[in-house]
Amino acid sequence: MKQNEYKFSYEVYDAIDELNEDDRYLLNKAREATQNAWAPYSRFRVGAVARLKSGTLVMGANQENASYPAGICAERVLLSSAGASYPGDPIETMAVSYEGDGVVSDHPISPCGICRQTLQEFEQRTHHPVRLILAGKTGKVYIIPSAGMLLPLAFTGDELV
Ligand code: THU
Repeated sequence: MKQNEYKFSYEVYDAIDELNEDDRYLLNKAREATQNAWAPYSRFRVGAVARLKSGTLVMGANQENASYPAGICAERVLLSSAGASYPGDPIETMAVSYEGDGVVSDHPISPCGICRQTLQEFEQRTHHPVRLILAGKTGKVYIIPSAGMLLPLAFTGDELV
């Protein structure tokens, strides 16, 4: 028997002002993008903004539906938009923030399982890591070098004939 170990490391900053100017700008845009959420059911609004390799910015915000499973997370709204409007232009960095009624937005949240799967495939198809900046409206900021790191032993299209 052999024991395998999976480790990944990420950066933790105490606050947004420790980031470089580009990252600060992107995180502030993600914080603003929470306003574009349609979240009358959860009242939890997530904003995402990505900078593509070309420099173009792409936005995402969660879009819910009265038929709950039809709702879509901010991250996947963004990935669909980037894939549809800018094919062949990889994502360099995506920032994600949130707010919610009665929620204290003072720590990072991390993408859900379905978004991790979608992020992983986006990286694979663009041959480029998606660097993630995760933070609330205040507080610590996490920077994860590649979203795929959040999904060890991922199921990928390589398994399908
Ligand atoms: N949500 C996102 O948009 N991104 C995340 O990373 C976590 C959850 C959305 C889905 C749903 O509209 C609401 O937040 C509550 O789960």
